[in-house]
Amino acid sequence: MSAIIVVGTQWGDEGKGKIIDFVSEQADMVVRHQGGNNAGHTVVSGDVVYKLHLIPSGILYPETDCVIANGVVVDPRVFLEEVEYLHQRGIGTERLRVSSEAHLIMPYHLVFDSLAEDRLGTQKLGTTLRGVGPAYMDKASRMGVRVGDLLQPEVFRDRLERVLSEKNHLLSKAYGRDQFDFEDMLEQYLAYGEQMRPYIANTSVVINRAIDAGKRVLFEGAQGTMLDIDHGTYPFVTSSHPIAGGACIGAGVGPTKIDAVYGVVKCYTSRVGDGPFPTELLDATGDAIRQEGQEYGTTTGRPRRIGWLDTVALRHAARVNGLTGLAVTRLDVLDHLDWIQIAVAYRYRGEVMTELPDSLEELSEVEPVLETMEGWKTSITGARRIDDLPAATRRYLDRIAELVGVPLALVSVGRERTNTIVLKPLF
Ligand code: IMP
Repeated sequence: MSAIIVVGTQWGDEGKGKIIDFVSEQADMVVRHQGGNNAGHTVVSGDVVYKLHLIPSGILYPETDCVIANGVVVDPRVFLEEVEYLHQRGIGTERLRVSSEAHLIMPYHLVFDSLAEDRLGTQKLGTTLRGVGPAYMDKASRMGVRVGDLLQPEVFRDRLERVLSEKNHLLSKAYGRDQFDFEDMLEQYLAYGEQMRPYIANTSVVINRAIDAGKRVLFEGAQGTMLDIDHGTYPFVTSSHPIAGGACIGAGVGPTKIDAVYGVVKCYTSRVGDGPFPTELLDATGDAIRQEGQEYGTTTGRPRRIGWLDTVALRHAARVNGLTGLAVTRLDVLDHLDWIQIAVAYRYRGEVMTELPDSLEELSEVEPVLETMEGWKTSITGARRIDDLPAATRRYLDRIAELVGVPLALVSVGRERTNTIVLKPLF
C-alpha cells in the first residue's frame, strides 16, 4: 500500500495522535490536509511527551517527510513557534513543507472567532477560539490571504490592504472594537513569510511525486467525522472536512491514488464543545472514565464530555469515509469497569433507528439502545498480541467490528508506542 488515510470516526480526540505516530514510523511522508491549530496531538516517546497542534507528529522521525497541505489553515505564529519548539528539543525541520496555497489564520480571525461565540451566548458552538472558522469563512468568500502571498510583498500589501480595511470597518462600526494597524501587520507578516520561506512549496506536486514513486504516504486527519462540516452534527462542527474525502481536496491528490482508509475509534466516546451527544454519561461512571482517561482538551484544556461507544455514529463514519479497517484506542481506560455499555441503535419517539438521523433536532431527542457487556477488570497494557487480551476484552472488540461492519486493524492498550497490537499492518 502506498497511500493511506487515517481519520477520526467520532468527535475528535479518538487517540489519533498515538495511532498516527505509530504508523508514521513506517511512513515516508505524513500529510496534514485540513483543520488548523485547533487540533492537538499528544505523542509519548520514552519519557518525553510532545504536544503539537499544527505540524504532523511524523516530524519526530528523522526519515519522515512532513507536509502541511493546501486544505489546512495556517497561523504563521503557531507554525514558527512549533518549529522553534522542535528545534529546542533537537528535532530538525528540514523535511517539513507547507503549501503556498494554504490559507492564513490572521489576528482578526481570532478576534472574530471570540466575537461570534460571545454573540451566540448559550447557543455557542464551543469553538477552540483559534480563528479556524473565520479563516475558512474568508477562504470560501474569497477574502483569504494565502501562505504564498507572504513571499510577494506587493501582492500581500494589496490583498491585506483590501481585506483589513473591511475587517477594521466591521470591528469598529459593528462591534465597537479597536482597529488593527495595517503597517504593523504588514511588516510582521512579511517577516513571518521570510522565516517560512524555506518550507513553502507546491505540496500537491510534492505529495503526488512521492505516491508515484511508491513511497508510503500517510494522510492524517484532524478532528473527527462527527465534526465534518457536511457529514457531522451541523452546526456543532468544525469548518473543514475531517472525513477521508477531505484528504483528496485538502492535499491535491485524486481519489484513485488512495489505497485504504482507517478509522480511529476510541472505545468510549468524548466530545468537547456543544451539541447533541446521545450516549453522554452525566454520572459517576462518566466522571471515572474522564479521570482515568485524563480527558481534558490538548488545545484548550477543557474537560471533555464522556459517553459510551456509539455504533450508530460509527456506522455513519464507516459509510461516509469508506473505512477499510478500524484502529481501536484507549482500551486500557476501561480496565477498572465491572461492565461496559455500547449503543447499538437509537430510540426516537418509540421507534428504533439504526442509522444516524440527519436532523440535529431528532439527534438531540434520541435515546440510545444500549447493550451491556462484561468488563475485564484487569490491566491490559502489557498485551502485545490479540491473544494476550482477556476473553471479555476480545468479545468487546469483536462486537465493535461486527456492529460497525469493518474489520479491526490495530488495537491500542496504552500511551506508549509499544502498547499497540497490530492485527493487520496499515501499509
Ligand atoms: P473550531 O474548529 O475551533 O471552529 O471548533 C468547532 C468545533 O470543533 C468545537 O466543538 C470544537 O470543540 C471542535 N473541535 C475542533 N478541533 C477539535 C479537535 O481537535 N478535537 C475535538 N474537537 C475539536
